[in-house]
Amino acid sequence: MNILIVLAHPERDSFNGALVDVAMARLQEAGHAVELDDLYRDNFDPVERASNYPMDSAADHFSPLAVQRENYKQGSLPADVQREIARLEWADLVIFQFPLWWHAQPAILKGWFDRVLVYGGLYSGSMRYDRGYFRGKRAICSVTTGSPEQAFMPFGRAGNMVEWLWPMHSSLYYVGYEVLAPQVHYGVQGGGIQYQEEAAFRARLVSMEEAWASRLAGLAQESPIPFSTWDDWDENGVLKHSHPLRWRLS
Ligand SMILES: Cc1cc2nc3c(=O)[nH]c(=O)nc-3n(C[C@H](O)[C@H](O)[C@H](O)COP(=O)(O)O)c2cc1C
Repeated sequence: MNILIVLAHPERDSFNGALVDVAMARLQEAGHAVELDDLYRDNFDPVERASNYPMDSAADHFSPLAVQRENYKQGSLPADVQREIARLEWADLVIFQFPLWWHAQPAILKGWFDRVLVYGGLYSGSMRYDRGYFRGKRAICSVTTGSPEQAFMPFGRAGNMVEWLWPMHSSLYYVGYEVLAPQVHYGVQGGGIQYQEEAAFRARLVSMEEAWASRLAGLAQESPIPFSTWDDWDENGVLKHSHPLRWRLS
């Protein structure tokens, strides 16, 4: 398999960086081709704006969707976006490695979605969800948090990881990926609030690296998160009344 690791962390020598090293070593040992897409190293510009494109004049109205579609069609997308798309086309599996920042992915990775997943090229009205551009390929989020696992339990103060990751998961599914359940590495203090004494914390980091390494071997065989599909929706994009998940609300 060709595997792309997209890293969104400003410090390569971080726990996120260590998780990348674990994944690269383990996946290469297993015979896969692995590429690292380090967004900070490459100084990826996450801001979608008119100046990214050749515009006819400064007075042109900038409509991001129309401009993305036109430049995709003309083969004139910005070079960094073309490079990212080529990486995605190469990869059978994409691993997104990032810390949870303000209950979401870091801005550089949010902007990567804004700029790289271009309208009219990687998705359109008829090319979405289970009919998406990347159907047949897989994606997974490997996320570190500062807060400990218990704080993410029901009624926990850190909130609900399913909700925090929904924007990423649903966006990946939107462009056709089979999305695997995330690997969440909880309670990575990362120089911030301390939840555990140093030696126990260090031992836990090692055990999280080991857990990630042992899961990686089976990623190709795992069942993805079940999303609903075009066949499940009515003309308004709502689950059909006959759908089994509608049993509680008719
Ligand atoms: C800007 C910022 C926002 C953060 N927001 C959260 C958060 O919402 N929830 C959380 O559990 N940790 C949060 N953290 C803590 C990081 O998730 C934690 O430091 C990181 O996962 C540790 O991994 P590292 O050592 O590789 O940086 C935040 C950290 C930063 C810098």
